[in-house]
Amino acid sequence: MAVRIVLGAQWGDEGKAKIVDYLTTDSDVVVRYQGGANAGHTIKAGDLEFVFHLIPAGIVHQDKACVVGNGVVLDPAALFQEVDELESKGISVDGRLFVSDRAHLVLPYHKAVEEANEKKIGDSAIGTTLRGIGPTYQDKINRSTGIRVGDLLDAELLPEKIRANVREKNEILKQVYGVEGLEEVQLIEEYMALGERLTPYITDTSVYLNDAIEAGKSILFEGSQGTLLDIDHGSYPYVTSSNTTAGGACTGAGIGPMRVNEVVGVVKAYTTRVGNGPFPTELNDEMGQRIRDIGHEYGATTGRPRRCGWLDVVMLGLARRINGLSSMAVTRVDILDELEEIKICTHYERNGQRVDHFPGDLNVLAECKPVYETLPGWQTPTPHIRSYGDLPENARRYLERVSELSRIPISIVSVGPDREETIVV
Ligand code: IMO
Ligand code: MG
Repeated sequence: MAVRIVLGAQWGDEGKAKIVDYLTTDSDVVVRYQGGANAGHTIKAGDLEFVFHLIPAGIVHQDKACVVGNGVVLDPAALFQEVDELESKGISVDGRLFVSDRAHLVLPYHKAVEEANEKKIGDSAIGTTLRGIGPTYQDKINRSTGIRVGDLLDAELLPEKIRANVREKNEILKQVYGVEGLEEVQLIEEYMALGERLTPYITDTSVYLNDAIEAGKSILFEGSQGTLLDIDHGSYPYVTSSNTTAGGACTGAGIGPMRVNEVVGVVKAYTTRVGNGPFPTELNDEMGQRIRDIGHEYGATTGRPRRCGWLDVVMLGLARRINGLSSMAVTRVDILDELEEIKICTHYERNGQRVDHFPGDLNVLAECKPVYETLPGWQTPTPHIRSYGDLPENARRYLERVSELSRIPISIVSVGPDREETIVV
């Protein structure tokens, strides 16, 4: 029995889903606890490829249960799109997908307000995924305007809440942003129908999960986004609107911290970022383009090209500290296979001073210059390798140096997208 959290240690897109998929084999329940359809979790199983935005990636294992916890912001139409796609591939979710009654609902007006706001602020736009994430969490924190999954069950209250919100949001859309509002009657009908379809999945998932833990089941928490996108500890304001860090699993699923046995940070062997904001080790040169090309670094949710750079130990230090990482799973090592040299950012320098801790102030971060250690590449293919000792010596040297500098032990090395392309250390 184990309760494990798998989460991103960087800016998202670390390959979390591949690690979750791998670890699902010895888990009973897989749980999403924060974020929403902004996530793009890709897994490859044989000839099939799946991209999940809301349903936990563990769902492809047909004997496992999956939970969408209270901390998630749920777009029911996006959820059913995934359910339908799974069903078209012969995978049924019935009886094993559970959605929290306390999760907040994403409505079309959230997306409309987000899009209008991103356009309005222009150069300082966050570069969001436009999935309505921020405005939905705003309504949750605001309390009076939030609508929860459980509200879908109340045929009297739901239309009232939607009507009041549409009127208010339309006012904002027109007055503040000068754009058209939404039509309320159609929206109410749509959400009543979605509510009916969602009803069999709705439950108190905190009770479900705690019962499962007490019954000795193994639970896997699937983080979305990454540590540096955390609303409190990330590169604010260029972050997402939820706690992507380990504590988010407790609040976002309704379990106590003493239940958690292990926190695995997923670390890409280099760094990527989508959206705006400073990125100290970014490579705005041929090398950055080369990594993007080899790694096909384009967003799974929005298709945007990802910004690429070297691995940053200062960031990993933040991830280790905030999440209390027990180990890390290093992914996409194979993408570096052909490089002549590989760099690791060991610390930053600012005004001649050494900086070891990721600064909270973005203006300070923007003045930080990365200091690198250069290691020789291995220039040998690795995807066929299945044991750590068989990795090229320089690959092991790189991994061991990253582990030593970050003070995080390595538990898994991934050398390709397939389930089998995994090395347990
Ligand atoms: P997964 O789970 C990478 C980024 C967006 C933007 C910022 C805020 O696949 O790793 P949001 O729509 O969340 O309000 O956007 O966060 N972002 C991600 N970047 N991977 C993700 O998810 C992301 N989800 C959001 O690009 O910079
Ligand atoms: Mg992704």
